[in-house]
Amino acid sequence: MIHHYLSPTDFDIQTTLKVIDFGLQIKEKIKKRQEFKPFKDFILAMIFEKSSTRTRVSFEAGFKKLGGQTIFLSSKDIQLGRGETIEDTAKVISSYCDIIMIRTFEHQRLIDFSLNSSSPVINGLSDLLHPCQSLTDMLTIKEHFGSFHNIKLAYVGDGNNMANSLLLHCAMLGIDISIACPKDYSPSGLIVKEAIEISKETNSNIIITDDPIEALSGANVVYTDVWTSMGQEDQKEKKHSILKKFQIDQKLCSFADSNFIFMHCLPAHRNEEVTADIIDGKHSVVFNQAENRLYTQMAIIFNLINKE
Ligand code: CP
Ligand code: NVA
Repeated sequence: MIHHYLSPTDFDIQTTLKVIDFGLQIKEKIKKRQEFKPFKDFILAMIFEKSSTRTRVSFEAGFKKLGGQTIFLSSKDIQLGRGETIEDTAKVISSYCDIIMIRTFEHQRLIDFSLNSSSPVINGLSDLLHPCQSLTDMLTIKEHFGSFHNIKLAYVGDGNNMANSLLLHCAMLGIDISIACPKDYSPSGLIVKEAIEISKETNSNIIITDDPIEALSGANVVYTDVWTSMGQEDQKEKKHSILKKFQIDQKLCSFADSNFIFMHCLPAHRNEEVTADIIDGKHSVVFNQAENRLYTQMAIIFNLINKE
């Protein structure tokens, strides 16, 4: 059976924990420049319908470091951008390539692609979910705190694909999560329901509020993301005026645990969703978090190609 990674829940909890630990082991190996080329003769295709810096470069660098080859496909340059169906595109590209990563708009496009693909498919971000990023965030939390025990993550800002993905991963790993966002920009209702269901087994405490102070109180991890996600440019002005009260700054962070870490998936907009002193300050781990995309995605690929 072909396994895809479109949502955090596509790996069960045990697999998720295993992939995180494996990602940390890979980080050590790569840092020591140990010879490690298991994907020689494998090809990763990467389809981008939206822009990217981290996802593109970390997948490409990561797969090449493991001995494989990559093909970058912008939807502007392939027939998908001229109306060829996602189903036909999936059948064709998966007949050439061993694994495929896609960044797209509606999550349904990923599902439709995966249903027609003879190779594993990885979600490189959709409007609904960004599981490679949130899994990396979990790995970064494990690396920093040593475990997921007694950790509270506060996400403040737009209830977008990052908020949805963090909700699922925190629920799965027993991390308490408080999300503070304006009522009109809440996370997906279906995802919140799914996360609450999962949390019944893991005892993760889930709070959705419109009060940033409530969310940040005692938080070990303070997280935010851009207010205007890709594809929402026409809503920028409205969103920014509503989200102004949700900016992460020193004052808000004084409610967090004194040893909190600040996380952001990047790209960031200084002095919009977060003040420059916080993102560039001593609590910020954003660049280690970005680097960890490399190792986490390598571990995801190992799991999907069954190379462990
Ligand atoms: N965090 C993230 O996915 O960044 P890119 O949009 O640069 O890939
Ligand atoms: N929420 C952002 C994440 C970028 C990595 C977006 O979808 O644009």
